[in-house]
Order: sequence, then C-alpha cells, then structure tokens
Amino acid sequence: MAEGGRLQGRVAVVTGAAQGIGLGIATRLAEEGAIVVLADIADSKAQAAAADLARRGLSATAARVDIANDASVQMLARKVEADHGKCEILVNNAAVGADTHIETMSMEAYQRVIGINQDGAIRMSVAFVPLIKKAGPGRRILNVVSILGLRGWPNQIAYATAKGAIVNFTRALACDLAPHDIMVNAIAPGFVDTPMSLRRDGKHEYDADWFRDIYVKYGRIPMRRYGKPIDMAGPAYFLCSDDAQYVTGQILSVDGGASATF
Ligand SMILES: NC(=O)c1ccc[n+]([C@@H]2O[C@H](COP(=O)([O-])OP(=O)(O)OC[C@H]3O[C@@H](n4cnc5c(N)ncnc54)[C@H](O)[C@@H]3O)[C@@H](O)[C@H]2O)c1
Repeated sequence: MAEGGRLQGRVAVVTGAAQGIGLGIATRLAEEGAIVVLADIADSKAQAAAADLARRGLSATAARVDIANDASVQMLARKVEADHGKCEILVNNAAVGADTHIETMSMEAYQRVIGINQDGAIRMSVAFVPLIKKAGPGRRILNVVSILGLRGWPNQIAYATAKGAIVNFTRALACDLAPHDIMVNAIAPGFVDTPMSLRRDGKHEYDADWFRDIYVKYGRIPMRRYGKPIDMAGPAYFLCSDDAQYVTGQILSVDGGASATF
C-alpha cells in the first residue's frame, strides 16, 4: 500500500510507462509510496494508466515525452521540476523493438533504433541528473536493458547494439555519480509477455513452436516459461530502494535463468 511505503514521497519518473514492463515497474514504485510520473510518447495511454493507479489511491500522473527528441526531454525535466522540485528515481525503460539484419538494414533504420533505445536513455540521464542531485536520500537511476545487450541474436543488429551500449553506459554512469550517492544499475529482462513481443500478425512470439521447443521443452529457460511485467517489478524495486544503497554499476538479468544456460 502507498501509505507508509518504503519509497514514501520520492518522485520517480518512468519512461515508456504506458504499458508493459514500464507500467509494471511504475505500479510497484507507486505501491511503495513513490510519486510516479508515467512518461511516454503514447500520451493518452499513459493518462489512462495513471488514472487507473490514481483510482487505487496511488500517486501517479502522466506526461508526454519523446525520448528521441532533445526539446521534448528538456520540457519533461522542466515540468517535473515545476511540479515536484526534485526527482529521486529515474527509470529509463522506453524502447522500441526492431528486426534489423546486417544485409538488409538501412542506416536510417539503424539510426532510428539507436536514437530511441540508446541515445534516449542517455538524453534522459543528461537532462535529469541535475534534478536528481537536488533530491534527498534514495537517488537512483535504473536502465532497462535486455539479455540481447549481453548476448548476440540473429536479426537484431540495431537493438542489440543499443542495449549493449546502455549496459556499459550503466557502468560508466555509476562511476560518475557514485560521489553524489546516486546508484545506477540495470535490469536485463529475458523474454517478457508485453505488446513488444506481439508479432505483426498479432500473434504472440512466445507462443510460436520455436519458442516452446527451445525454451520450454528443452529448458533453455530453466523456469520453462516466459516472464510477465510483474516478474520485472520486484528486482526493479529492489534496485530503486534503500536496500540497494551499496549496489551500483550492476546489470541484473531477470530472465528465468535463460542467460545462465548455453
Ligand atoms: N518484452 C520483452 O520481451 C523485453 C525483453 C527484454 C527487454 N525489454 C525492454 O523492456 C523495456 C520495455 O519493453 P516492453 O516490452 O514493455 O515494450 P512495450 O512496447 O510494451 O512498451 C514500450 C513503451 O515505450 C514507449 N515508447 C516507445 N518509444 C518512445 C519514445 N520515443 N519516447 C517515449 N516513449 C516511447 C511506448 O509508447 C510504450 O509505451 C524496453 O526497454 C525493452 O527493450 C523487453
């Protein structure tokens, strides 16, 4: 419950929080008492999600942002400063999925993914660090990367490159911000049931035969199931909580054990 939660009164900005993993994380932070800003390019969806949380007595508002756009990100930072005066927690979660093969990918398609998935998280961090430095105890930045930032995967040149960059951005940023008591970490989800994992034909990628065979039947995911946004929320909360006060620059895979196998 929000009242008396362990993040009581802390301001948390979560990008890409209109749905999926971002909404799962935002919900958990709000349940722990945080004042959550659901920041998303899908404005009306974010408004609806914030209204749902508010109906449960949680503190949540929505704000539009395009993390690929400097002016939009700076406008969000100014809005959060005007509304709250500070920001303890930034969750860089927003990203897009994209199939990109080295032989068919255009540089425009590559730059689009890098501009959102890689530069977006960096742009948000540049804009929000001054505000986070103004905040009280419990300052945290959490990046949502992917096991595809730690491993290769066919047809994912742009996505995997961007996620790999944010893996090492997390470590470098942790070094810069440790003197300010700002802990910077990442979670690396495995296969998670969200709108991102829907195929163009509307079917779920993880209900396909290839996934069931390799990951379930033969146990490449030791947990033998794909993840849900709720599975991401607890580890994300931990890294945003006071319990992580001496944890920084770390990448926590949340993947049912997938990255532990080969
Ligand atoms: N679903 C998976 O299997 C999976 C696996 C590993 C990592 N991830 C990562 O988890 C995070 C969340 O993914 P998801 O599965 O919930 O995806 P999703 O597509 O369900 O949600 C992504 C959200 O980001 C928003 N967004 C997209 N571009 C934006 C922009 N330019 N500015 C602001 N908001 C923008 C979308 O509107 C959407 O609400 C992403 O970083 C993704 O790469 C997902």
